[in-house]
Amino acid sequence: MIKRIAWFGLALISAHAAADTPASSMVRYAQQAGVAVSALSPTRGEVLYRTEHPGKNGATQSCASCHTANPKQAGQTRVGKRIEPLAPSANPQRFTDAAKVEKWFRRNCTDVLRRECSAQEKGDFIAWLNQIK
Ligand code: HEC
Repeated sequence: MIKRIAWFGLALISAHAAADTPASSMVRYAQQAGVAVSALSPTRGEVLYRTEHPGKNGATQSCASCHTANPKQAGQTRVGKRIEPLAPSANPQRFTDAAKVEKWFRRNCTDVLRRECSAQEKGDFIAWLNQIK
């Protein structure tokens, strides 16, 4: 029993130590891309967010289609389900869970761009969102 409690405590501590931040996510993607964090570009991140791509039924789509033109605002899925804001200044939960971030980059980049985003693009994207006040 005591041993089990000790393990639980340890698991909590290590889960806490592993918590991500927008800054640590930028470091991770910069490392994956083989560039310095200073080489991440908020400007390119914003272009990635706003650029329209041909969608399935002739309509165009972008990241902003669901996340809205202003990432400090709540967005909506295609079936009208609320999406909390993407900008960390408006939603402190953002970019604090590396597995979640990866899952949604994969899903949404494949959906909008018809390909996965590169590590550089992911880093640029977070760099832009993270400097929105
Ligand atoms: C069809 C609607 C839709 C589109 C288009 C879309 N997203 Fe999302 N996105 C979602 C949903 C739904 C979630 C998960 C719910 C949530 O986290 O609030 C999400 C979450 C995310 C997250 C998770 C962030 C975190 O830390 O929680 C990232 C990163 C993301 N999207 C990036 C993108 C990028 C990049 C694009 C454009 C290439 C994009 N999204 C386009 C619907 C969309």
